[in-house]
Amino acid sequence: MASLEQYLNSTEKGKSLFEDEVRKLKTPVCKVFLKAGKITPVGWKSSGLSVKSKDPVKVQAKAPHVVKANGDKILLAVSKTNKDKIKNKRVAVLFSGGPAAGGHNVVAGIFDMLGEDNTLLGVKTGPKGLIKGDLFEIKPEDIKRIKNTGGFDFLGSDRTKIKTPEQFEAVKQTCKKHRLDALVVIGGDDSNTNAAFLAEFLFENIKEDGSGVQVIGVPKTIDGDLQIGKNLPISFGFDTATKVYAEMVGNILQDTPSSKKYWHFVKLMGRAASHVALEVALQTKPAVALVSEEIAEKNMSLDQIIDDIAKVVIERAMKGKNYGVVVVPEGIIEFIPEMTKMLKELNMAVAEHEQELENKDLAEKRDVLSCVLAADNMKLFSSLPEYIQEMMLFDRDAHGNLQVSQIPTEKLLIDMVKKHIKKEAPEVEFATLNHFFGYEGRCGVPSLFDAAYTYNLGLAVGALALSGKTGYIVSFTELDKGGKILAIPLPALLNVEIRHGKEELVIEKALVELDSPAFKYFAKNRKRWAETDLFNSPGPRQLWGPSCNQLPITVALNQGYKSLSFKI
Ligand code: FBP
Repeated sequence: MASLEQYLNSTEKGKSLFEDEVRKLKTPVCKVFLKAGKITPVGWKSSGLSVKSKDPVKVQAKAPHVVKANGDKILLAVSKTNKDKIKNKRVAVLFSGGPAAGGHNVVAGIFDMLGEDNTLLGVKTGPKGLIKGDLFEIKPEDIKRIKNTGGFDFLGSDRTKIKTPEQFEAVKQTCKKHRLDALVVIGGDDSNTNAAFLAEFLFENIKEDGSGVQVIGVPKTIDGDLQIGKNLPISFGFDTATKVYAEMVGNILQDTPSSKKYWHFVKLMGRAASHVALEVALQTKPAVALVSEEIAEKNMSLDQIIDDIAKVVIERAMKGKNYGVVVVPEGIIEFIPEMTKMLKELNMAVAEHEQELENKDLAEKRDVLSCVLAADNMKLFSSLPEYIQEMMLFDRDAHGNLQVSQIPTEKLLIDMVKKHIKKEAPEVEFATLNHFFGYEGRCGVPSLFDAAYTYNLGLAVGALALSGKTGYIVSFTELDKGGKILAIPLPALLNVEIRHGKEELVIEKALVELDSPAFKYFAKNRKRWAETDLFNSPGPRQLWGPSCNQLPITVALNQGYKSLSFKI
C-alpha cells in the first residue's frame, strides 16, 4: 500500500485531488452543436442582427476584402443538414495578452469540433511565436491534460502587436510553412483588432490555389471590456477573476468588524474599465466602491473623490465603525478629468521624447518634461508622490496602453484621505492597509461558467473554421435559456482612436455605462452599504453543488436575465 508520502509525491505537477477531479468535470454544450449526443459541425445563417463601425469609410479602405465578404451582419449557428465531412484542415491557435481562465477550454473546444480528420496546431508564446513560426501539433493527450485547467501555460502568451510590413510578411511565411487554413487569435480588444487586420492581409493569395487563410477571434480578458451589448455579453475570464477577487474582498470585509481597526483600500485589476470593480462591489457590498466612468462623467476632481471617501470614514467613525473597505478600479487615475488631461499630454511627450527620457533619473526626467508639458499639467504631475510619477513614466505596452497595474493608486488615495482626515477630523482613528488583487485572479481554475462558456466558444471557432469563414469573432448569448452561438464581423467593430498620438482603427474598450441596470442597481444601494455593514462574503467559486451555475451579477442584470443562473 502506498504511504502518505508516496501519495503526496504522486500529486505533484498539477495532479492534486482537486485538479484531477476538475479535469473530469463535464462542461455543458449548447444544443446546436449536438446530434445524437455527439459534437457536430454547424451551419451559419444571418441572425438578423448587425453591428456598425462609426468610421465605415476608413474601415472599408483598410479591410476591403473582409468588409465585402462579411458586411455588418452577425451570423447565427444553426444545425447543419449537409453531411459532407470536411477533412485535412490545418488550424493554428494562439493566446495573446494577459491570461484569463478558460483559455485551455477554447483550445479543447476547437480540437473537439475539428475532430480526428483535421489538425490543430498550437502557437507557442502568442503573436511573437506566430512571427517566428513556433508551432506544434496538439494531441488528444494534451487536451485531456489541459481541459478545465487555468492559465495559458499550455501555449504561453505575449503582447506583441503585429504592425510592421515585415511582421505581417513573417506571419504569411508561417502560414505557408505550416500549410495553415485558419488561424485563431484568443485575445482582448487590441489582439482582436490585430486579428481583423490579419484577416484582411491573409484574405487571398496565401496558398498555392490562390486562396487565403481564415482568421477567427475569441473574446478574452478578465477586464470585461470586450463586450458588445446583447451581442457579446462578456469576455471569458471575467467571471473567474471577479469570483476570486470577491472571495478575497469578502474575506477582508468579514475581518473588518471582527478586528474593528482597519480601513482596507483594495485596488482591483481591470485596466481602464471598472467592470471588475463594479462586479466585485455587487457581489460583496463594501462601504465604498469607486467607478472610474462615473468620476469622468461627473467631472469629479481628485479632491472631490478624497472628500467623498473621507466623509464615509468620518460618518462610520461616529457610529463606532473605524473600519471598512474601499474598492478602487485599477484604471481610475486615467479617468479623473485633470489627470486625463495631463496623461494625454504626458503620453504624447513620452512617445515623442523617448530618447531624451531614456536612462535618466526622475528629477532629470522632470526637467525634460517641464520644457514640454503645459504649466498646469506639469504642476499636477510634480504634485504627485514620486512613486506615482515613476510609474506614470513607465513604458507603455505595445498597444500604447499605460501600465495601470503598476501604478499604486490605492496608496495615493490612502495618503490623500489620511491628510484630509488629519486636517478635518483629527480625532478619527484611521488605520489603513492596502492591497492589489490582479494576478491572483487571472489563472485560477475556471469557474463553471467560464469553463462552459469557453468550451462552447471553442466549438464555435472550430465550426467557423470548417465552414471557411474569416474575419469573425465568436460569441455566446442568451445564457439564461440554452444559449445562441453568434459570429460577429470583426471590421465592423473598428473605430478611430488616438493611440501613440496618432489616429488608429481599433476595437473600442467597452466601459461601464451609467445608465446600465448594473450601475443603476449599485448607485441605488451604495449609500446603505456605506452606512451599515450589509456586506457579503461570497466564498470560493463552486464547481459542483447549488451555487455552481452562478453568472456574473453585472452580466445577468445588463442582459436582462430573470435569474442569476446560466442554463446551457
Ligand atoms: P488583457 O487586456 O491582455 O486581457 O490584460 C488583462 C490585464 O490583466 C489587465 O487587467 C492588466 O492591467 C494587465 O493585464 C496587466 O498586464 P501584465 O500582465 O503585462 O502585467
